[in-house]
Amino acid sequence: MQVIKQVQALRRYLSECRQDSIALVPTMGCLHAGHVSLIRKAKRLADVVVVSIYVNHLQFSEGEDFEQYPRTFEDDVKICVAEGVDVLFQPKNLYTDDGVKISLQVHEMDGVLCGVSRLGHFDGVVTVVNMLFNIVQPNLAIFGEKDWQQLTILRRMVADLHIPISVVGSALVREDDGLAMSSRNRYLTDLEREKALFLSQILQKMQALAAQGESKQYIISVGLAYLQEADIDLDYLEIRDEQSLLPATAIPKPTDRIFVAAMIGHTRLIDNMPLLKNLENVA
Ligand code: PAF
Repeated sequence: MQVIKQVQALRRYLSECRQDSIALVPTMGCLHAGHVSLIRKAKRLADVVVVSIYVNHLQFSEGEDFEQYPRTFEDDVKICVAEGVDVLFQPKNLYTDDGVKISLQVHEMDGVLCGVSRLGHFDGVVTVVNMLFNIVQPNLAIFGEKDWQQLTILRRMVADLHIPISVVGSALVREDDGLAMSSRNRYLTDLEREKALFLSQILQKMQALAAQGESKQYIISVGLAYLQEADIDLDYLEIRDEQSLLPATAIPKPTDRIFVAAMIGHTRLIDNMPLLKNLENVA
């Protein structure tokens, strides 16, 4: 595996591979089984796999965990070698030294869910992913479905900006007890980790209620009451259309998805599941 830190060096290396298909797996490092599933999918879909590791300051708001975000480069290298990654791209800084003068902006799609409490977050995401797309020029790029809103916005970005790259989603990976895998899980104390389980549990309970034919209004009210009872510091619990991210209508649809975000101690966690369980993506 090549570890490359300079844009020019990466371009030189990839210029030799252009006859093959190239997949990019953009990450912020601190790789876990969720990232491994992205890498494995990339390897199934392309000849050359590039993993990028870059903790992008532009997508962190003031007061968020940019400084504290876990950097575990040595372990990440081992995982990438074991998974047969071809290139690990770890740039030091992707932005010009005199500050960010040009960036991309998301409209409307960041006015819901995580965008409401993480102002500017998705502008930072699309800006850096666009840079990575320009640098690597892959045929496809893989993103996890845990960050469903991010994936939806990035799909829209390539469509709206005519970027010739396929954005591919990869199913969320859970711990054995149901907790959605996240680099931020390592912030949790034992007690907080137990509390975090309420998030996946409530999504499952809501799926069960949907399977019994309960109304969405009732399902949401049960979910909110359950999380309140568990003393969860909730950001949102909502059922939305998974493609448009608009609020779900009263009539059940296969594209209805439940989204939750909460602060567990100082850690912000998110999760999502389809409302209709048998439609769970097992790809
Ligand atoms: O999902 C992430 O880890 C980040 O948002 C991404 C896509 C690597 C952009 O910094």
